[in-house]
Amino acid sequence: MTAQKQARSNCEMRAQDRHIVIAIDGPAASGKSSVARELAGRLGFVYVNSGAMYRAVTWDILRRGIDPRDHARIDNYLKRARIVCDLQNNESRILINDIDPAEHLRDDNVNNSVSLVSSVLRLRQILVEKMRYYVRDYDLVMEGRDIGSVVFPDTPFKFYIDALPDVRLRRRAAEGQRDEIANRDHADSSRRASPLVIAKDAEVIDTSNLSIQGVVSKIAARLRKKGLRVAGPREARQPLL
Ligand code: CDP
Repeated sequence: MTAQKQARSNCEMRAQDRHIVIAIDGPAASGKSSVARELAGRLGFVYVNSGAMYRAVTWDILRRGIDPRDHARIDNYLKRARIVCDLQNNESRILINDIDPAEHLRDDNVNNSVSLVSSVLRLRQILVEKMRYYVRDYDLVMEGRDIGSVVFPDTPFKFYIDALPDVRLRRRAAEGQRDEIANRDHADSSRRASPLVIAKDAEVIDTSNLSIQGVVSKIAARLRKKGLRVAGPREARQPLL
């Protein structure tokens, strides 16, 4: 086989082996999680919440009394922490030293410190590697801040979900959370490591006047145009035939 043919056949094999990633990025309280979870259900894909990973590590760092500004101590902590990302009911789950901190991920102190902790470069390297691991076995809907720009820059399916700041504030308050989302947005957008940006080939959706189903329908329509099969709302979570 000529080198050219070999290269082409490898490329075809990779294309077949590769799983699909739908990247959904956006600022705080833009509705990413609800949209991504619903979309994953309709597609029959695994839902990965990358923010939960940064939140879980933040929770563990705080409970150990580590200053979230102290990058050197966080780097040291990361050498010993056992961070496991797996799946539960088709959704990502994170265990830190065998503990599942799910119920603490939205605590006030985690909301306040997660942007500081997520700016630690070594942590980002570790978590991005774990995020990429999922795609070896599953088709994914993954949400976060840098999924389309850094984690999966080659995916052709990128969405950036936004909403007016006061709408986002109201949404977070309605969830009963105290969350300084303006501070987090500023920190996330201005940090050096993988800042929140709109990937150049992402489709931007303003969700200010849309319901969750409205946003999901918009994304589903775009995905269908690109050749993916997406079930309607009533078929959600049924396997696609
Ligand atoms: O509360 P919200 O759903 O808006 O945020 P999240 O997705 O739970 O993410 C919490 C925090 O984790 C963000 O404010 C970022 O500091 C960080 N994060 C990140 O740096 N990169 C990601 N891919 C996801 C989250």
